[in-house]
Amino acid sequence: MKYNIALLKGDGIGPEIVDSAVRVLEKIARKYGHEFVFTPYLIGGAAIDACGEPLPKETVEGCLASDSVLLGAVGGPKWDTLPGNLRPEKALLGIRAAMGLFTNLRPAKLYPALKGECPLRADLVENGFDIMIVRELTGGIYFGERGMREGKWGEEAYDTECYSRMEIERIAKVAFETAMKRGKRVTSIDKANVLESSRLWRKIMHETAERYPEVEYSDMLVDNAAMQLVRNPAQFDVVVTSNMFGDILSDEASQITGSIGMLPSASLGETSRGLYEPIHGSAPDIAGQHKANPIATILSAGMMLLHSFGLSRENEDIVNAVDAVLNAGYRTADLAHGAPSLSTEEITDKILAQI
Ligand code: IPM
Ligand code: MG
Repeated sequence: MKYNIALLKGDGIGPEIVDSAVRVLEKIARKYGHEFVFTPYLIGGAAIDACGEPLPKETVEGCLASDSVLLGAVGGPKWDTLPGNLRPEKALLGIRAAMGLFTNLRPAKLYPALKGECPLRADLVENGFDIMIVRELTGGIYFGERGMREGKWGEEAYDTECYSRMEIERIAKVAFETAMKRGKRVTSIDKANVLESSRLWRKIMHETAERYPEVEYSDMLVDNAAMQLVRNPAQFDVVVTSNMFGDILSDEASQITGSIGMLPSASLGETSRGLYEPIHGSAPDIAGQHKANPIATILSAGMMLLHSFGLSRENEDIVNAVDAVLNAGYRTADLAHGAPSLSTEEITDKILAQI
């Protein structure tokens, strides 16, 4: 089969890690007789430098015309002082919204080979953990009404959290369907003791839970969830939460897997077209030094094969290759603690050799 893949390399380490993932996809294509056609488009700071805006129209159109999108990372100090609507990060929100990607799947699991990297006490992660964070991606405070105004104490700025029944229902359905294919447990995370939007969220989660009697359901307040993630991460299977809470908790979850350089993500909507990206950022401090860990992006490409193209065997090949390379002791600098490590290209070669 032939698939058109839009590449949004972005900024910082983005180009290096996307190049690694492309090499892996090309190997998969040769092995299984697929054809992947890659078309690069500008996004983020790179787009600002080239055409004065973080998300050019051609990029949006190219993504919407593709079968799926692979993204590296956006942002960097060079563009940090631009106004909010011209920042590289705005492009990320823009492309998620333009493609209707309301679901963000962020799997966080502890690789047996990386147990020693987990900052938690060994007995807390003895049996590992395997969490699927289902983050709502196109609503909430990220997209709510915002502005500046004169208030009681002078200048003030505000952002608003707003969720509609429709938005909560559709992400709830994704969470429960995901749980049915995994450990059949859903924890919904909110702040229903304070926020009205969380109370509607919780009510609709309960309604949905009734339609999935096989799934063990619980609610958890977000402050408690932040604590439980480091107290007993193995208690979680599927976690479903709002855009902002999901952003925060997925960084926390990534850290207990050993390195943020390991975590892939899939952003999905109503169609098979998705956007796949590592959860980490553009790491401008190590850009161009061949030090970046490409594994999160390579695993994101694997998620694309699975979720957008239904190629589960091909995805498994990638996952198994990463496992084998980690089990053999190969590490990039983020996981090497100053010991000799492999470059971005070298670890990619090792993964390619396993496919
Ligand atoms: C993420 C990032 C983005 C987000 C930023 C860069 C806008 O932190 O994907 O987690 O907050 O969604
Ligand atoms: Mg984040």
